[in-house]
Amino acid sequence: MDDFTDKIAVVTGGGSGMGREIVRQLASEGARVAACDLSMEGLEETVALVADDHPDAEVIIHRADVSSESDLETLRDAVCDAFDTDHVNLLFNNAGIAGGGSMFTASRESWERTFDVTWNGVYLGCRVFLPLLAASTEGYVVNTSSVNGFYASIGPDRPHTAYSAAKFAVKGFTEALMTDLRINAPHVKAAVVMPGHISTGIVRNTMRAQVGEPTPEEAEFLIAAQEMFEQAAPMTAAEAATIILDGVRANRWRILVGDDAIELDEKVRANPETAYEDDFFTLLD
Ligand SMILES: NC(=O)c1ccc[n+]([C@@H]2O[C@H](COP(=O)([O-])OP(=O)(O)OC[C@H]3O[C@@H](n4cnc5c(N)ncnc54)[C@H](O)[C@@H]3O)[C@@H](O)[C@H]2O)c1
Repeated sequence: MDDFTDKIAVVTGGGSGMGREIVRQLASEGARVAACDLSMEGLEETVALVADDHPDAEVIIHRADVSSESDLETLRDAVCDAFDTDHVNLLFNNAGIAGGGSMFTASRESWERTFDVTWNGVYLGCRVFLPLLAASTEGYVVNTSSVNGFYASIGPDRPHTAYSAAKFAVKGFTEALMTDLRINAPHVKAAVVMPGHISTGIVRNTMRAQVGEPTPEEAEFLIAAQEMFEQAAPMTAAEAATIILDGVRANRWRILVGDDAIELDEKVRANPETAYEDDFFTLLD
């Protein structure tokens, strides 16, 4: 797909970060875009940003939890009504949350919530929208995994089990889907996106999307963690969105985002057996 003009796109998690920037860039290229999120406030901000840049752009927003099939079905029906369509061309299964790091110290509820949003959200997005992609003449499903989809760690002292499991699932599923599509819907392509560290609101948004309220101490820690996460990131969400959309235009199926992601991919491939030992981290810049 080398051009997004007049294409119909669905973006999950379009109220912040990379999802928001994908919505903005698609809209600026003349696509008709439906964005969903847990946060209507975030979605309204996305729409306002699009309207500032392109007052004629067609963007609709919808509150939906991607871990709920019925929410996604309602979104699908809203997309078909709003754009008077029986197909979509692009699906960005982008929504995801962190959390559920340890099997010992994280609650089972938070572990399962992370897995549910981050993996099931992608799976259900495909379940609900693949028939509409197959009904198009040209389709692309773009599933956001992470560097944690090929490397299940964020450091030797921080367990990261739920998120890594979900992101490995997204990557494995998308790679297997390519053969399924080639046989059953060859006009639809699939891509897996593996960002490195990108400056977004994921820490703050995870707090809102997780089960239960954080204690005041946890909230204070998370606010500081959000600031550090955003400031330390080498790439903006807008730059990441451009790399993702360029990858789609170039018909790529494997989209690494950021020099840190490219470097980690090379180092894990070169040193698979030692990748989870403390020394491995000294190999990373
Ligand atoms: N930021 C990074 O460094 C990084 C790195 C690798 C992968 N990723 C992945 O990129 C994707 C986008 O994340 P981001 O960094 O832009 O974060 P973000 O928090 O800024 O944006 C994600 C959006 O998804 C929404 N969301 C969360 N749970 C949802 C649910 N159940 N239903 C619908 N919407 C929901 C949030 O409200 C938020 O608006 C995620 O899948 C994330 O795991 C991020």
